Amino acid sequence: MRSLNSILCWVLGVYAAFVGAATYSNPLKSTSGSDPHIVYTGGYYYLMTTTWTDLQITRATTLNGLKTGETKVVWTDSTSTRCCNVWAPELHYLGGIWYIYYSAGHSGDVAAQHPHVLKGGTSPWDSYTYLAQLTTDWGIDGTILRFTSWGNFFVYSCFSGSLQSLCIAPLTSPGSIGASKVLSTPTNSWETAGSPVNEGPAAMYHGGKTFLSYSASYCGTASYALGLLTWNGSGDPSLSSSWTKTGPFLTSANRNYGPGHNGFFQSPDGTQIWNVYHATANSGGTCGRARYTMAQIVNWNSDGSPNFGTLAALGTVLQGPSGE
Ligand SMILES: *[C@@H]1O[C@H](CO)[C@@H](O)[C@H](O)[C@H]1NC(C)=O
Repeated sequence: MRSLNSILCWVLGVYAAFVGAATYSNPLKSTSGSDPHIVYTGGYYYLMTTTWTDLQITRATTLNGLKTGETKVVWTDSTSTRCCNVWAPELHYLGGIWYIYYSAGHSGDVAAQHPHVLKGGTSPWDSYTYLAQLTTDWGIDGTILRFTSWGNFFVYSCFSGSLQSLCIAPLTSPGSIGASKVLSTPTNSWETAGSPVNEGPAAMYHGGKTFLSYSASYCGTASYALGLLTWNGSGDPSLSSSWTKTGPFLTSANRNYGPGHNGFFQSPDGTQIWNVYHATANSGGTCGRARYTMAQIVNWNSDGSPNFGTLAALGTVLQGPSGE
């Protein structure tokens, strides 16, 4: 007679063989997991988060493996204008080369933050050299937004008057941008909790549609959450009139507060889009190191819009990305 245990193991084994064996649980990075960004390429997940002092990449072959992945510091800088407050690094592949877009400024002066870019090599694991500062205006959280018919844009958080907003500019080369326009200002009640903020934009492409998520409200509140801009498919992407705003999504749940500042990445087999973001156990939210990195799959509604789902409690075992 088989024991109940061995039957259970057999059932789980057959289940795993059909759906893929890999599971994971959150958090992927338990402290200093702020502003996470992941790319999957060449058999590895590459994770970057805000450390405040340098730029580090952690890599692993599975999502769960990032918890104990190989980490290396890829950039430190003693130049006073970009030494400090090193925030929100993201890896982007342009013309066969990996670049890291990030923001940095003077020590102890967040009013002096500017977007910068480093040039790497053909793998994210290669070494990096400093390429450029992208604007002399205040700016943080830069990302790349791609269109087949309009080219590439740089989208970042900027000030429009007193409102921390999203700006967009054509990316004229990996290290330079054209004139900026304001794309989104925080005007809805869910964008103004604590203070009016739009930041942390992240592009996503699915079913022929182009989306731009961002984070809304002040990070030091539990109301920090995602907003979504959906491109209308034909208008100039640098005009706010070409986008529809909806939100909030991915709100506080199951003792995870203030989720946001996300990035999107593909599953190893390219069939799924995943969302990586931070949250905190602090019920009042936080803008500091006590934010952990979480990831979960993006599902899709019948009208083609993304379903960001609900945050599961930390430690919940979830099915990993397809193709692991
Ligand atoms: C998209 O937005 C632009 C304005 O930026 C407008 O001229 C155009 O008609 C819109 N297209 C659709 C399909 O709604």
